[in-house]
Amino acid sequence: MNDAPIGMFDSGVGGLTVARSVLDQLPHEQVLYIGDTANGPYGPRDIAEVRSLALSIMDELVDRGVKLLVIACNTASAAVLHDARERYTLGRGVPVIEVIHPAARTAARVTRNGRVGLIATRGTVDSRAYDDALQAVPGVELFSQACPRFVELAERGVTTGPEVLDVAEDYLAPIKAAGVDTLILGCTHYPLLVGPISYVMGEEVALVTSSDETAKDVYRALASKGLLRGPEANEPRHEFRSTGDPKAFSVLARRFLGPEVGDVERVDSASDAAGARAETPGFSLLPTAH
Ligand code: DGL
Repeated sequence: MNDAPIGMFDSGVGGLTVARSVLDQLPHEQVLYIGDTANGPYGPRDIAEVRSLALSIMDELVDRGVKLLVIACNTASAAVLHDARERYTLGRGVPVIEVIHPAARTAARVTRNGRVGLIATRGTVDSRAYDDALQAVPGVELFSQACPRFVELAERGVTTGPEVLDVAEDYLAPIKAAGVDTLILGCTHYPLLVGPISYVMGEEVALVTSSDETAKDVYRALASKGLLRGPEANEPRHEFRSTGDPKAFSVLARRFLGPEVGDVERVDSASDAAGARAETPGFSLLPTAH
């Protein structure tokens, strides 16, 4: 048994949809989660900036002794996956799980006509990370659409009603026209909008989200390396931190994850967005009083 927490991070609260699935599938595990709300959203940022921010947060998580890292953000996964495996798995023996390959694998398994849609942030679509993940699968064609307003709507709590339906109809029209039978929700926020997305796409289109599939990969990685925390352990304790306002984070986090979110502690990012642009991460996370 390994008592150390699972380290997870996202640009903000979106990754908590992945944390929810991890806690559902692995109820004895402890999670240390960082939401980089001071620098999020990552979707519109340059991929090099995202890479730098993500590496800094993962450095912090690994320094705090996590036993496994989960990049609980599609945009960050697209930006940093290969570097993260080299730096943390090869360099420090910490396995890294991301959210893109689990969802891509499932979509490839589920599709019957080989036409798969992807909705995601601009950063994820432009990175072509899903195209790369599906490239090796014969007979699968990917149709991608960036849906930046979905993140803003989910964070405002606008997940039903005419506004979200109008936006969904607009974004999804080209994907529907492409005749996809499977749609990847390639952004951590989109599971909150699954009602309107499914309504617009029609019930014959299968929706694939990253969260449940990623949690299965987390289980597999921990089980295969003998790192699981078992039922004999004490009641799990989770830690939630944000680089921005902890109060605002905690309100949203309860909506995205649920009652497990207790007190949220703030961690400062030492760099601003300009520092994040540097090639070498110029960013460190320092605990501050709140
Ligand atoms: N978590 C991000 C993702 O899954 C969405 C929010 C953002 O743009 O940072 O791509």
